[in-house]
Amino acid sequence: MASTVNSPPTTGILPNSSLQTPFLPKTSQLSIFKKKKPFTFASRKVVSCKASNGSQNNEHSSSPNRFDRRDVLLGLGSVYGATNLVMDPFALAAPVSSPDLDLCEKATVASKSAGTMKVACCPPKSAKIIDFKPPKFSKIRYRPAAQSVDPEYLDKFTKAMELMKALPIDDPRSFMQQANVHCAYCNGAYDNGDPSHELQVHFSWLFFPFHRLYLYFYERILGNLIGDPNFAMPFWNWDAPRGMPIPEIYVDPNSPLYDEKRNVDHQPPKLADLDYSVEEDLSKRDQIKSNLSVMYRQMVTNKTATLFLGKPYRAGEKSSPGAGSIEQSPHTDIHKWVGDQRETYKEDMGNFYSAGRDPLFYAHHCNVDRMWNIWKSLPGKKRRDFTDTDWLDSSFLFYDENANLVRAKVRDALDTKTLGYDYQKVNIPWLKNKPTPRRPGKASAKGQAKAAETNNTTVIRNVFPIVLDKLVRVEVPRPKKSRTKLEKEDEEEVLVLQNIQLDRDVGVKFNVYINDEDDETPTGPEDSEFAGSFSNIPHNQNKAGVKLDTSLTLPISDLLEDLDVEGDDNILVTLVPKEGKGLVSIGNIKIEYIRE
Ligand code: C2O
Repeated sequence: MASTVNSPPTTGILPNSSLQTPFLPKTSQLSIFKKKKPFTFASRKVVSCKASNGSQNNEHSSSPNRFDRRDVLLGLGSVYGATNLVMDPFALAAPVSSPDLDLCEKATVASKSAGTMKVACCPPKSAKIIDFKPPKFSKIRYRPAAQSVDPEYLDKFTKAMELMKALPIDDPRSFMQQANVHCAYCNGAYDNGDPSHELQVHFSWLFFPFHRLYLYFYERILGNLIGDPNFAMPFWNWDAPRGMPIPEIYVDPNSPLYDEKRNVDHQPPKLADLDYSVEEDLSKRDQIKSNLSVMYRQMVTNKTATLFLGKPYRAGEKSSPGAGSIEQSPHTDIHKWVGDQRETYKEDMGNFYSAGRDPLFYAHHCNVDRMWNIWKSLPGKKRRDFTDTDWLDSSFLFYDENANLVRAKVRDALDTKTLGYDYQKVNIPWLKNKPTPRRPGKASAKGQAKAAETNNTTVIRNVFPIVLDKLVRVEVPRPKKSRTKLEKEDEEEVLVLQNIQLDRDVGVKFNVYINDEDDETPTGPEDSEFAGSFSNIPHNQNKAGVKLDTSLTLPISDLLEDLDVEGDDNILVTLVPKEGKGLVSIGNIKIEYIRE
């Protein structure tokens, strides 16, 4: 397996100088871990980032320092000086305002192999914008689980979708115009006249409220078309075993719910893979276990608003500061799992510009939306929405069932009951699926690092940013701060991966584990060591070449407790690239305490 320092270079350090933003920590801020026990070149294979063999690597001319080795153990010292890596220093604190439709431009869709195309997905203009008012209704409508709807419901739903598809193409309520809503908000059509600040509703705290409102208007349009204001869309119940395959109602080729651009290998009864990157042939049982464990981690372990809903994103700030847990996974994984691999841009679900063209998109997002409700209902005092007015007053534009243009704010989206709907109550099996430590006993970073080294792992120092083209291990120090019991309860210890940079049009996925040294049997979501994952769906900005520059924040308090290493000074972080190896770099990794 793994190789030695002398092998030809491949694992990388910094392939592209454009990755170096002014916010990256200076290398002087990074130092070797474990000061008390100094490195010896004899006991650990050490490569510094100024490795002299870099120039031997000719196939990656843009990547002078790459090392060929499976495992890389990185030592990282104190980096607490660099706390504001994701903030835009010129940001004005203000809510993100709804887009100016007059300034809407064609969206951009790109891929390395097929090049760039422009897609017209701006909505029709309207002279008048009305402000959203909560609907009047006499009873709450319940969105049903798609796998268990009755024939009568299916008739109604099918009829509504047929009528929507039959509307004239320029009607803002038509199927394509509604699909384009997503395209415009997600592929760089809106910049309100400032090309450096294109609006993006993913990878931030706008994700849940934007999609909730989008579905709300979609549902109202459907209900209006069949004359039933109580009509409620179905949700794809992928968080429970029976709901894990694509719901049957969506796979009849003669139904308006069908979309031919889906992965042919993922038809029912195949179960969705909530930790999807590449095909892994798990038994049905193992797939269910993995899926339920992903759900537990994302829903139960991620307790605070930032962790669950995503990072703050205000007017004038760089978009995509960091997605919340469910947005990352399984939301993104499922998009990619459904998208058609044969299509150039992985249409429909596998690219933001086209995702809304698959009727399944709306069922998928209903379940995402349902998770927001469930998350708030779980025990614990941290599970609250943000109260920041920059969030509450962020606004979007949608066409309603009467083809009026409506401005709706995040504050309008907080409670589904004021919007007149809720979800059918179904069993929530993942609540009982707490991941367990992979092996009994204490798995300290020290022990794990040692084991990793005996497994031919190499130690690198002063390496950030790193390119993730191999499994990489980093020993990360915990803040040296003693905390009272109360502080411990109020705070969440988090692992932050800063300045995750990649081209927007590539699919990327990597998983993050703590204190896990073994790479022979892969660790999975069912293990306590699994902290979370990062995943990107191809999507573009108008401004060419602007990389996605985002972050990933993962809660680790519960994991440290489960692994019985709360007292340790360091943790060992393992990054496992699954998709898009070598296409993503990470600016820094640190541990902090957050309080919300
Ligand atoms: Cu706006 Cu599922 O993406």
